[in-house]
Amino acid sequence: MASAAPNGFLARIMARKSVEQVQRETQTSQLKRTLGPWNLVFLGIGCIIGAGIFVRTGNAAALHAGPAVLVSFLVAGVVCALAGLCYAELSSTLPVSGSAYTYSYTTIGEFAAWVMGALLLLEYGLAASVVAVGWSGYVVSLLGDYGIHIPPALTGPTGHHLQKDGVDVLVNGAPVTYLFNLPAFLVCMALAALLVVGVSESAKFNNMIVAIKVTVIVAFILICGWFVIQHFGTLKANWDPFIPPPTGDKGEFGWSGILRAASIVFFAYIGFEAVSTAGQEAKNPAKDMPIGIIGSLFACTLIYILVSIVMTLIVNYKTLNVPDPVAVAVDALGPQWGWFAKIVKAGAIVGLTSVVLVLMYGQTRIFYTMARDGLLPRVFSSIHPRFRTPWVNTILVGLLTAVAAAFFDINTLGDMTSVGTLAAFGIVCLTVIWLRRTHPGLPRGYRVPLYPVLPALGIVACFALIFTVETRVLIFFAWYTIAAVVLYFVYGMHNSQLHKGQPAVGDDELPVYPEDAPTGADGAPVVRP
Ligand code: ALA
Repeated sequence: MASAAPNGFLARIMARKSVEQVQRETQTSQLKRTLGPWNLVFLGIGCIIGAGIFVRTGNAAALHAGPAVLVSFLVAGVVCALAGLCYAELSSTLPVSGSAYTYSYTTIGEFAAWVMGALLLLEYGLAASVVAVGWSGYVVSLLGDYGIHIPPALTGPTGHHLQKDGVDVLVNGAPVTYLFNLPAFLVCMALAALLVVGVSESAKFNNMIVAIKVTVIVAFILICGWFVIQHFGTLKANWDPFIPPPTGDKGEFGWSGILRAASIVFFAYIGFEAVSTAGQEAKNPAKDMPIGIIGSLFACTLIYILVSIVMTLIVNYKTLNVPDPVAVAVDALGPQWGWFAKIVKAGAIVGLTSVVLVLMYGQTRIFYTMARDGLLPRVFSSIHPRFRTPWVNTILVGLLTAVAAAFFDINTLGDMTSVGTLAAFGIVCLTVIWLRRTHPGLPRGYRVPLYPVLPALGIVACFALIFTVETRVLIFFAWYTIAAVVLYFVYGMHNSQLHKGQPAVGDDELPVYPEDAPTGADGAPVVRP
């Protein structure tokens, strides 16, 4: 058994957990194993279809890609598929280990795991805020249909103005300035309370609302698709031009706009990997994880492509920069479809609820695992005696997401989420290559095809897409990463269980298979006693 306190700085920050150690920790985990393969696919879909398609597609089409947002979905889908294949391999190789955070810890080492934890906070915590803001937009719109009006100042991001078609709405001659987004705040807190009560109850609730969400979106595709077929002669004008000419500003139409929109709609795919955060609660992780990840990703890709085709044919892309673009497309079918617009809004509200729930669930489990490793304070892993859930952690995550959702606008939050997630996916692709080189003989339930081309392409594609976002988002991301690194050296490094003398890993601790022998560690960092 290797020591936890290796000599040498590099060896220290690249200290790794062994597969056995992760297995032992899983055995001592107090979380219940309640999730089967269908729960996992539903968990994935529950997380994937959300504000990306229901809200952000409108902005991406109207301001960046036009009807070619369809191509943006394809680009983002391919990037996610590359990362998804890597997630599937890792989750079948390290089946008990849960999230990308643990994959990093068992392969590249503790520092990479810490950075991954920070990126996952953007991917899960901040994404939950984005979806809560989208939820709020549909709630305000649906309530408005029934004559119920929440005071406008309580429905948007602090300091922004209430607008219609890009122009300030004046009340008594003055623009309305938002104080904060009350519905978004409340939904985060309510769902945190549900998660405190327990995953089993939450999973049943999740399955039910995912079924409603999928039914509504399939109905949208069928009804609007039928309408498009009936009126294709006139509607095809909305696809002319299919790629609007570039305005000259980077990211506004043309090919740079398509790529910019890809980084926006990339958000719509986030979530398939949330399945892997449920490793400690899955009944049979080795078999069920790849099914959950690939199955949910494939289903959602198909749905997005169909939705974006009908949406941009039914209405002109310029009209889609609204909080409820899917409802705008339904409205265009004619007043006789008003009832369906209300159903779509209600379905979106239900669907977005499930996404916030699953994202928050994922975030709490990442914090839980990090606290067990000593990288976060112990309170994040304390389990409620009756509900058997990490309750303090869950309440903190609820507060964090609620505050971000209350005060910030959806585009800024969404772009930050995309960048953090792309970086995390890039590291996951790298992890596959790392593990294949250091431990080629490990049994892998699933192997990425065309290795090493696909994982390498995944790394390049993720980092290329990062650089299509606005410069201010990149600057934020740089500062965020620097802060995370500093925090590691100030807190995480000194409190980690590995550092305190818990069993650490050298290559000799991983299962040894004959084909490992000739290559040995292959240059990998090794922690020695
Ligand atoms: N993919 C999720 C959504 O679109 C995060 O809301």
